[in-house]
Amino acid sequence: MARSGAAREADVAARVRELGPVLGIETSCDETAAAVVDADGIRANVVSSQVSIHRLYGGVVPEIASRHHLELILPVIDEALTQAQVSLSELAGIAVTNGPGLIGALLVGLAAAKAIAFGANLPLVGVHHLAGHVYANFLAHPELSPPVLCLIVSGGHTELVLLEAHARFRLLGRTRDDAAGEAFDKIARVLGLPYPGGPALEELAKSGDPQAVPLPRAMMGAEGGLDFSFSGLKTAALNALQSAEKPDPADFAASFQQAVVDVCVAKAMRAVEITGVNRLLLAGGVAANRKLREELASACRQQGVELYAPPLSLCTDNAAMIAAAGRFRLALGEYDGWDLDADPNLPLYQTTVPST
Ligand code: KG4
Ligand code: ZN
Repeated sequence: MARSGAAREADVAARVRELGPVLGIETSCDETAAAVVDADGIRANVVSSQVSIHRLYGGVVPEIASRHHLELILPVIDEALTQAQVSLSELAGIAVTNGPGLIGALLVGLAAAKAIAFGANLPLVGVHHLAGHVYANFLAHPELSPPVLCLIVSGGHTELVLLEAHARFRLLGRTRDDAAGEAFDKIARVLGLPYPGGPALEELAKSGDPQAVPLPRAMMGAEGGLDFSFSGLKTAALNALQSAEKPDPADFAASFQQAVVDVCVAKAMRAVEITGVNRLLLAGGVAANRKLREELASACRQQGVELYAPPLSLCTDNAAMIAAAGRFRLALGEYDGWDLDADPNLPLYQTTVPST
């Protein structure tokens, strides 16, 4: 007889609580990261950032990222195990990001994960990078359970998805062009701000007037559904910067940030209306943006929606979120073979859950 969704999710959560520590590995972009997560939460979370290296080029240079991952991956894993005071034999498994991301960067983490799992006879589980961002919320809010709407806003993705059951996602809407973080980074670069542009632009926006520069909010009508588009905003912003009456940089930054926030909040609230799911979680690097967090919180309060957001430290790329997502797959009895491959365009929505 089919059990109710709630009973199934409670069952999975109970199995996650019984699982031993899991080592997470993340190398999809420019952070080399390893973490150990157990039933009590994060035992170690080591992130070696390459930001200062890529800043010299104004963005991530894929080949340079791969080479640095190669140098850093084993010391970072060693450091995570040492900080957690966990030996390989005590682990319940290894979770590794296998996509999406930069192919050369992903392969470094995957090769390390496979070698360690094979040598120590441990289960290996591939984790979708965006699933990791979503599961960062479960580290901060262990009581959370599906179904829950997720607004994922990162450097490479802007998506609204429904986490229907643990490790099972349904796409509701996505950006048709640039991601929100990418738009922040590109505009910040034109303003002469350092990479990554999001945090720098947010800082500059603090003293600006968000209504000073008129900028478009795209696809807000019903025909846009739950999809996003930020390329028109980017072009309009560039035109405003190049116009004869140059806007004040702080006003400009505040107006740009407000345009992105307005669209994200409106689309998330529309997803609540359409699905009737009144639990929303925020995920991805742009989830660190305070303006977005505040305005989403205020919209959710008005509409009686429960909002969850990770602590700032877990918004941007880290391996604790990968270990957290991997724990749920392992608890579901899912693990991968030695043929697990890195996929720069890995889809989130083919993730299936065996019936329990
Ligand atoms: O999730 P993430 O660390 O990497 C990807 O998976 O892409 O996201 C990085 C993105 C960058 O575009 C960065 O500028 C943006 O997140 N970001 C922010 C803030 N902090 C990071 N954007 C706006 N405001 C912030 N405070
Ligand atoms: Zn990310």
